[in-house]
Amino acid sequence: MRTRPLKVALLGCGVVGSEVARIMTTHADDLAARIGAPVELAGVAVRRPDKVREGIPAELITTDATALVKRGDIDVIVEVIGGVEPARTLITTAFAHGASVVSANKALLAQDGASLYAAAQEHGQDLYYEAAVAGAIPLIRPLRESLAGDKINRVMGIVNGTTNFILDKMDTSGAGYSEALDEATALGYAEADPTADVEGFDAAAKAAILAGIAFHTRVRLDDVYREGMTEVTAADFASAKEMGCTIKLLAICERAADGESVTARVHPAMIPLSHPLASVREAYNAVFVEADAAGQLMFYGPGAGGAPTASAVLGDLVAVCRNKLNGANGPGESAYTQLPVSSMGEVVTRYHISLDVADKPGVLAQVATVFAEHGVSIDTVRQQGRQDGSGEASLVVVTHRAPDAALSGTVEALRKLDTVRGVASIMRVEGE
Ligand code: HSE
Repeated sequence: MRTRPLKVALLGCGVVGSEVARIMTTHADDLAARIGAPVELAGVAVRRPDKVREGIPAELITTDATALVKRGDIDVIVEVIGGVEPARTLITTAFAHGASVVSANKALLAQDGASLYAAAQEHGQDLYYEAAVAGAIPLIRPLRESLAGDKINRVMGIVNGTTNFILDKMDTSGAGYSEALDEATALGYAEADPTADVEGFDAAAKAAILAGIAFHTRVRLDDVYREGMTEVTAADFASAKEMGCTIKLLAICERAADGESVTARVHPAMIPLSHPLASVREAYNAVFVEADAAGQLMFYGPGAGGAPTASAVLGDLVAVCRNKLNGANGPGESAYTQLPVSSMGEVVTRYHISLDVADKPGVLAQVATVFAEHGVSIDTVRQQGRQDGSGEASLVVVTHRAPDAALSGTVEALRKLDTVRGVASIMRVEGE
């Protein structure tokens, strides 16, 4: 074993960074044996230098991240500060100064992965980012390496633990969204400002990364259709139950049937209770992958948290250090297919539409005609009259597969009917 250590610098020492430093210390001997050389923590860039950081020698702490990445003697930079800047500049500077990079930065990779890969390649360095998607779950490497010989057609996953916790609470307790969010906040699952999670931004960044790797093309955050889950109601869960379904916030990346384009989207959807993703409870994540030769695969585990995310970072660190010792590089960007990303209107799926309608002759026929005029085929219809003297009924229509644009046109036309008093909810149905 080489005795001269590989030098590692940490950018960020929060929940994840401090766990990375702890595991590097407590598992030092095992890491050295697995890599073939010791790894030494050579610097830690932080924003608040006065904070006590157990197990990290004070002389390693600096507030000057730029000087740290420019030192020239650092072999690997671990970036766990998040956000686009200054992370992007620090990473590209690190490459230029001879360091490979392990990052957990989903926002940056989703927005600008291509230029990071280009900078890594220009300087002969590695870019690894297993921790950017679904915490501890091995997902990037299986997609990038283990499945590199197969053809992936679909990646569908629960990639945000906060929203899965909220939806699971709504499902199991009958709680409304606000009540379930309050519980998630009290238990530390939801941030004080939960927007990034509940509006689907976090999941959309992960969808962009997964789609790009799975389909060997470039998919940016702006290409991902996004709908949050704040409008999901207890009534939606009741409807889902009647259909033998539950509701999940899904990230779905698909290759079109003709293979000529891809789509990436994040939105709440009903899935059958028999689907493996339906049993993903609390704050867990899971990703269901469908490939030509492999068939169906499911990756499951903790998608966030200090230690689980650090596990993914450490796995990358070992891989990158091994590459350094071997004078080799891991896989670079694979975007050769250059498949265009289609708009949401071209996505084909099923829908569950709940309408409040006048309970009188001819209404069902009128509604059915609107669906027919837009080429959307109805699978089932369920009508329930109200006993409250309002003269209204609830009409639930479940469709066969249809393009999203056709469904939008249908709903727009339905809203114009005098007999349709309101569209209570529209939910996509997936996983059948
Ligand atoms: N906030 C994310 C989640 C974890 O709730 O899953 C980090 O991506």
